[in-house]
Amino acid sequence: MGSATGLDFEPLSSVLGARVRGLDLKRPIEPAVQNELRQAFSQYGVLCVPAPGIDIEDQIRYASVFGNVDGEGNGQLRFAEGEKRPKRGVMFVSNLRENGDLVGVLPDGEMHFHSDGAHRERPYRGTTLYALILPSRGGETKFANLTAAYEALDSAMQQRLEGLQCRFVYDVRATLRHQTDESDDALSTATHFLVRRHSDTGKPALYLSRLMTRSIVGLEKAESDALLARLFDHCEEERFVYAHSWQLGDLLLWDNRCLNHARNDFPSEEQRHLRRVTVSDPA
Ligand code: OGA
Ligand code: MN
Repeated sequence: MGSATGLDFEPLSSVLGARVRGLDLKRPIEPAVQNELRQAFSQYGVLCVPAPGIDIEDQIRYASVFGNVDGEGNGQLRFAEGEKRPKRGVMFVSNLRENGDLVGVLPDGEMHFHSDGAHRERPYRGTTLYALILPSRGGETKFANLTAAYEALDSAMQQRLEGLQCRFVYDVRATLRHQTDESDDALSTATHFLVRRHSDTGKPALYLSRLMTRSIVGLEKAESDALLARLFDHCEEERFVYAHSWQLGDLLLWDNRCLNHARNDFPSEEQRHLRRVTVSDPA
């Protein structure tokens, strides 16, 4: 699909995602191009821009097209590349170490499906992730279309879920469900509707995940566990999932309002290093 702005969107799969061509992220992004990008974000859920050599400022400029860049306005935006402490909104997803200390978060291994920030009252709207160093195999990021997963439920199930709320608890060090101790009061927790209407498209989507959703509010534990198990499996069915095999210099953006994502395992003796900038809804 060509367009007046010169952008081109090539679907990454039949279920979600598009590769964007004709975009130079080293330059300011024209308003007409910004509009087209926002529309494509609503339509595809995941946008992949091949963008070798962009720096953190380029990534932040691109992220700001889609929402309020996290960390902005509190002096944390100017993140030094070598800085040790990850800041809210700008950090590395990395297994690299400096003097024995990890430089980022979520270093190794498989990661269960989740939506970023669902354990907070105000989850992240979108996440950008930029590939700087990749392992020779594995480490694909998988995405599940939760609008399609909702639409595939029969209407009796859709009605049963309407109005239900889930409790989310997440230990930020966890990549697998059992690694979060939900009885730990120090962990951040939040409650959200299980069926969530997208703030741009209005479409209903399931909003729950194996990594972060612990229970359905008001249901007996056995019933809640059984329904969650069934819905986790449903959301992760192959027909709703696209697995992204990263290329160096890929900049991915995903919509946390209507997609889950997960990570395949990769060799822990190899390096994997990505730069992450999130955006949120305006306060
Ligand atoms: C994240 C995340 C997955 C990956 O950055 O929020 O889940 O593939 N990353 O590293
Ligand atoms: Mn994530």
